[in-house]
Amino acid sequence: MPLLEAAGIKKVFGKLTALDGAALTVGENEFHGLIGPNGSGKSTLMKCIAGAEVPTQGKVSFVNTDITAFTPTERARAGMSLKFQITSVLPTLTLYDNILLALQAQCSLLDLVFSRTRGLLHDQVMTMLTQFRLADRAFDAAAALSHGQQQWLEIAMALAGKPKLLLLDEPTGGMSLEERRVTGELLQPIKQHCSLVIVEHDLDFIRDICDRLTVIDQGKVLASGTVSEIQANKSVQEIYLRRA
Ligand SMILES: Nc1ncnc2c1ncn2[C@@H]1O[C@H](COP(=O)(O)OP(=O)(O)O)[C@@H](O)[C@H]1O
Ligand SMILES: [Mg+2]
Repeated sequence: MPLLEAAGIKKVFGKLTALDGAALTVGENEFHGLIGPNGSGKSTLMKCIAGAEVPTQGKVSFVNTDITAFTPTERARAGMSLKFQITSVLPTLTLYDNILLALQAQCSLLDLVFSRTRGLLHDQVMTMLTQFRLADRAFDAAAALSHGQQQWLEIAMALAGKPKLLLLDEPTGGMSLEERRVTGELLQPIKQHCSLVIVEHDLDFIRDICDRLTVIDQGKVLASGTVSEIQANKSVQEIYLRRA
């Protein structure tokens, strides 16, 4: 059984059909890229998977469970984590406290009541900051970070609950070339314990880090397969030529 299986996903907004039977299958420890032209339904599919939108039709299974009717919180508890284009960082807090809050959200009420967490979590906070090359900024306000660093902080926060699946919608938007390269490096190690679905416009970036790709066009899956299969696919080449 795959880790995630979304099938027959339809999403209608008024008169507009944003998704028309879209599907996505992701295995364990797989990095999966979701690509397609602007407005093709990528973000809507991510939201239907994460529970931020309710599909008009279709089924989402995750870790052998039908989660179609689960709330976003229930999905998070089942091991799904997402970071969207809009930031969840609290800019006036330090990086340390942003990560601490994300970790505390995973703790039991009992731990919080007895204030057992700050000491216990200190090592975890510093490990995460180090992993995302932010340790030397631990006690700066998050607002002082560069755009790229803020994205890395958010990815670190999205990983605080040790998810089995991380969903990233255009994490490298607005990043410099160097920041993109570093983002690729920072994501690689998480593959040991987590799968990834990533929406990206930068095809070089996605080809470098992903195992498999799904291409959507006008709310439907145009192709799904390994990076080389997709690169060789004639209809995929056509939509990208059409866009250029
Ligand atoms: N909340 C919404 N209400 C109405 N239309 C929406 C909404 N969200 C997305 N859409 C429309 O659905 C289509 C797919 O959007 P989206 O999933 O954001 O595409 P992508 O992420 O591939 O650029 C677009 O035509 C968009 O305008
Ligand atoms: Mg989008």
